[in-house]
Amino acid sequence: MVDSSTTITLPGLEDGRRADEPCTIVIFGASGDLTARKLIPALYHLYTEGQMPESFRVIGVARREKTDESWRAEMRAGVETYSRTHQVDDAQRDAFAANFEYHPGDLTDADTYVALAKRLAGLGDPCLVNNLVFYLAISPSLFGEVVDQLHTAGLLHRMGEDDEHWQRVVVEKPFGHNLQSAHVLNNHLLRHVRERQIFRIDHYLGKETVQNIMMFRFSNAIFEQLWNREAIEHVQITVSEDIGVGGRGGYFEEAGTLRDMTQNHLLQILSLVAMEPPPSLAAEDIRNEKVKLLKSIRPMTPEAVATNVVRGQYFAGTVNGDSREGYRQEERVNPESNVETYTALKLFIDNWRWSGVPFYLRTGKNLPLRASEVRVQFRPTPNVLFAAQGHLDLHANALTLRLQPDEGIFLRFNGKVPGNSIETRPVRMHFGYDAEFGAYTPEAYERLLLEAMAGDATLFIRRDEVETAWQIVDAIREGWGGMPLSNREFYAAGTWGPVAADDLLEPDGHKWHNPKPAER
Ligand code: BG6
Repeated sequence: MVDSSTTITLPGLEDGRRADEPCTIVIFGASGDLTARKLIPALYHLYTEGQMPESFRVIGVARREKTDESWRAEMRAGVETYSRTHQVDDAQRDAFAANFEYHPGDLTDADTYVALAKRLAGLGDPCLVNNLVFYLAISPSLFGEVVDQLHTAGLLHRMGEDDEHWQRVVVEKPFGHNLQSAHVLNNHLLRHVRERQIFRIDHYLGKETVQNIMMFRFSNAIFEQLWNREAIEHVQITVSEDIGVGGRGGYFEEAGTLRDMTQNHLLQILSLVAMEPPPSLAAEDIRNEKVKLLKSIRPMTPEAVATNVVRGQYFAGTVNGDSREGYRQEERVNPESNVETYTALKLFIDNWRWSGVPFYLRTGKNLPLRASEVRVQFRPTPNVLFAAQGHLDLHANALTLRLQPDEGIFLRFNGKVPGNSIETRPVRMHFGYDAEFGAYTPEAYERLLLEAMAGDATLFIRRDEVETAWQIVDAIREGWGGMPLSNREFYAAGTWGPVAADDLLEPDGHKWHNPKPAER
């Protein structure tokens, strides 16, 4: 059999594999966790796979005093500890780290930027000096300030159509904490740059399997034809985590899962699962469809919030044999906190394709398992034939897109149990990424950094997208209106969430399908 694969080249990545133009990546928040754990290992992998430009520099900016050499040593250690490959080649790693420089400075001090401009000018090559990715891995309260300062120091310009060089700003989440703050932040950033220069991160969009949702839907006739209210009864999207809030209690008290996960990751998955086919793979065409989908979600009135949204909070329990304390006992958490560590929603999408089909979205901390999946539940067949034989409980077909871990796709259908009786049993067809493509699965940040260097915004969130998502979430928060959690909204760590979440599906005659450890 001939193994044929089709490569789709994304705009901006001429050969689909490499960021071509030399550039400098300036990371604000260079001493932070994200830089060591995600950004540097991602850049390292891009480097070893020949996807970095011929020539590049990485300048880390943070308050702490360090030399170039000590930062390089830290980054080498970061590669060693967090790289997804087990064998790191010493020579390659050292050659990679030689491109790194450290720039100490206070981000609120204009001198930091004047000195940064000088340092950049010293790089010589006009592309390294002027093609700049500013990565804001810092507290959101500083986003506006850093962009102002970069502009004042002459490092960041509103780009014209014919500019030879480019500057881009990559903004980590959270992007605002409600519609109002996101709107203010957007206006602030757009004072100095154009929308096409802003790359708002949702790292779920960098995940291979999340990107595959669109490919799967629009390149397979057998599924796309059924992708509508006629054939689909409901859809479940689950993003479960087996960790608690850890040391992030302070942040979580402000965020809760609704802001931390639902506003971004879950609504992004939903929009890819449910959007209409875009006219092309161009960033704007795809993002237009995602926004249209988000805008078609039925508004959450206070009555709808009361019946269609459930919060939860974990109390002490055991996750995989490991005992966990309750959320209220975590560091920097109010002992009487009503902040949610779990959210479940029932949404309706009021458009032609999805009218009347419920979409159930849930996410939570300290659940039994780390797993993200989309389960598409098809409608049952008319049960006339088998009913006559006394087999009344035929299972309807279901398609599961397992996004992580054990990435794959499973289709459940009914098969005849071999033998003389007419007995059916649900069986599954399974596609596993690792079995098909080997263990190579790039980390989300590899793809995102590559796209930011190449200037393709497809995998980043556009202004209207982030604001529409906040609108949905704000209406839910308003509906909660500061009400304390009820008894049915608490769950023991290590269980699948509060009883109230089961109540949410019960009136529709549906049940949550909990992901299994390794669906093989
Ligand atoms: C982040 C959230 O955006 O996503 C975290 O802030 C969460 O609370 C994380 O743990 C989950 O990401 P992943 O890639 O591990 O599923």
